[in-house]
Amino acid sequence: MSIAVYPGSFDPVTLGHLDIIERSAKVFDKLVIAVLINSKKKPLFSTDEKVDMIRKCTKHLKNVEVTSFSGLLVDFAKEQNADVSVRGLRAITDFEYELQIAQTNRQLNRDLDTMFFTTSMEYSYVSSTIVKEIASYGGDVSSMVTPHVEECLRKKFAQ
Ligand code: PNS
Repeated sequence: MSIAVYPGSFDPVTLGHLDIIERSAKVFDKLVIAVLINSKKKPLFSTDEKVDMIRKCTKHLKNVEVTSFSGLLVDFAKEQNADVSVRGLRAITDFEYELQIAQTNRQLNRDLDTMFFTTSMEYSYVSSTIVKEIASYGGDVSSMVTPHVEECLRKKFAQ
């Protein structure tokens, strides 16, 4: 059985992430989406909120599981019996950072490979950071996130 993990901050999940999820779920028998619990960052959404948003938008994908993790990705991947880490590449600007993470993980665990999916063109400019920036000013993010995530953003910024 081929198992892959798709780690990330997902603050919040975007249509760009969902594109990567849907395409990679076709390639592996099981895809575990892993939300990083990062005490060093101050996220907009709690880990539970992030997991819940991802679960809602992936419920049509039967081989996808959503969970959270802390610590090293290589340890989490081992726990999950996953031998591939999935990441999305939007543009050349992502490449340096992604290459460093992939090579670090490979150094830490020879059995974990990273597989990159190039983001579909229509989402190549979308990031969680940009989505939060637009939503914080009441802008329209309907082309970047699902209607449910849009509603969660609206509620968060109304608080
Ligand atoms: O969505 P992001 O913030 O770009 O995801 C980064 C992530 C979660 C893939 C990366 O920070 C990570 O795997 N963190 C876990 C800690 C770890 O394993 N660090 C060593 C490799 S950088």
